Amino acid sequence: MATKSQFARETAGLCRTRVASIVSRGLDPLPPCVFALDVLLNAPVVDLTKVTSALSSDPGFSRRVLRLSDEILSASDESADSTEDALIQLGPYLFHAVVLLCAVTEIGEEASRDENAAAIWLHSVEMAILSEQIAEQSAYPSRGTACVAGLLHDIGYLPLLVAAREQGYLGGELGAAEWRDDVALEREMFGVDHCQVGAWMAKSWKFSPSLIDAVSHHHDPSKAGVDSHLAEIVFAAEHHGPALSRRETAEGSRVTRNPLADILPCGKLAEA
Ligand SMILES: [Fe+2]
Ligand SMILES: [Fe+2]
Repeated sequence: MATKSQFARETAGLCRTRVASIVSRGLDPLPPCVFALDVLLNAPVVDLTKVTSALSSDPGFSRRVLRLSDEILSASDESADSTEDALIQLGPYLFHAVVLLCAVTEIGEEASRDENAAAIWLHSVEMAILSEQIAEQSAYPSRGTACVAGLLHDIGYLPLLVAAREQGYLGGELGAAEWRDDVALEREMFGVDHCQVGAWMAKSWKFSPSLIDAVSHHHDPSKAGVDSHLAEIVFAAEHHGPALSRRETAEGSRVTRNPLADILPCGKLAEA
């Protein structure tokens, strides 16, 4: 009969194999409408008609954006019937974050992609807001870049999450909450850590060199070769920002109210 540690070793081996297969297969490109939406949602005045029209070019992606928006709103006992409704209720800042998170979570089985997004959105949005604030305070030249760096810094977690979910490795003695953001433990379990996987993803999707640096080195900004200031901003946001519910996020558990209300009124940051 297999012991608990043998089971853990075998499962870790399967996780390593699965992460390696995701990497060797390569990533699908980001949905094309994301690039148009990125521009539209960054505009000083957001054109609702153009945003909904851009989303309507990809009905599957649009449904995912609506589902995640609705899930976020449900924490405040609100709901959205359409993407237009979601944009109005969340505001351009959070809606933009939802679009980017839905885009980068298109990894693994289609049926699990909403679960991927739900698992990271809270920590990602908190980090986006904090990174943008720290960028302003530390005179970093682009608050928008800092916001995106905070939002996407942990994308490398997603392939690990997919592998762990498929092997039933999200609970038990080495559940998600224990291994998440513990780079040494991630390497032991998956053969790689989320910074290494994130660097590969950021390069595959042709992110800017500054963004690649932040994703790759947000746990050790001294290693950043292109934009150490940006990596330091994300590092500072992670370590000195309010300790919000990373455990809840890692476990994909539902929040009982909208936690962003503690940080800012939805959609108001873009006006600051
Ligand atoms: Fe991280
Ligand atoms: Fe993080």
